[in-house]
Amino acid sequence: MRVIERKAAMRACTRDWRCQAERVGFVPTMGNLHRGHLELVDRLAPQVDRLVVSIFVNPLQFGPEEDYDAYPRTLESDLTALDGRGVDVVFAPTAREMYPGAEPPWTGIDVPALSQTLCGESRPGHFAGVAMVVAKLLNIVEPDCAAFGCKDYQQLQVVRRVVADLDLPVDIQAVPTVRESDGLALSSRNAYLDAEQRRRAPALYATLQVLAEQVARAGAEQPDGLAGLEAAARQRLLDSGFDAVDYVAVRRCDDLAPPRGGERRVVCLAAAWLGGARLIDNLVVERAAVD
Ligand code: PAF
Repeated sequence: MRVIERKAAMRACTRDWRCQAERVGFVPTMGNLHRGHLELVDRLAPQVDRLVVSIFVNPLQFGPEEDYDAYPRTLESDLTALDGRGVDVVFAPTAREMYPGAEPPWTGIDVPALSQTLCGESRPGHFAGVAMVVAKLLNIVEPDCAAFGCKDYQQLQVVRRVVADLDLPVDIQAVPTVRESDGLALSSRNAYLDAEQRRRAPALYATLQVLAEQVARAGAEQPDGLAGLEAAARQRLLDSGFDAVDYVAVRRCDDLAPPRGGERRVVCLAAAWLGGARLIDNLVVERAAVD
């Protein structure tokens, strides 16, 4: 497994593989790898001839008050975790290598409808930062397919939109969320939880499960009733010891707009705080037929 830091070397490497008709897979990460990341790697490895994992903590997707500086950087243990999993290259550029110009980058990639709702409301600029770095990474690595976790559901939809709108020739694969045995979705930010917060954290998924069940039972024709269910779920999170709730929402699966009624599949999403840890999760639900 080779570690590459320079964009030109990374591009030359994948171009060489492609000249030999080898299929290239790509898993973008910010490092501090856990089983959720390894699941992305394990999903792609059997489908491709060559596999690239990027490790880059992207400054553009962190707000000024967010945890960019504190975000765990664990390259050595990440390399150990990837060893033996079929990864050919770890692309680990510096921020200067990725963004060499005077700050900020003068080009922006924005997906306004998807980026300004839900997490975008409490994290302005976050998805523009994600869209920018993902577009750059896809242009540098030029993979045939790339894997993203369903846990970051809104990010996944933003990435799909960017890829479709910019005609990027890559197949985006969504990989189901990996959970602890008590339901907590794996996330690097779980490390911020103390023992008491960790005990409370599974209530996020449990609340989404209750909401999803209610939404499924409510059928596809009752968008007005959703507000009451969302409010009840929000209260359930507060009662379970969450310190604050950014949102609990039931949305359409593709554009994350509020359901109009009639949708068979919707997604329940939530973001809530335990101390300094902001946890997110989601659950896609098939709603009951009404006929
Ligand atoms: O999901 C992440 O880890 C990041 O948002 C990503 C996709 C690697 C972009 O920095």
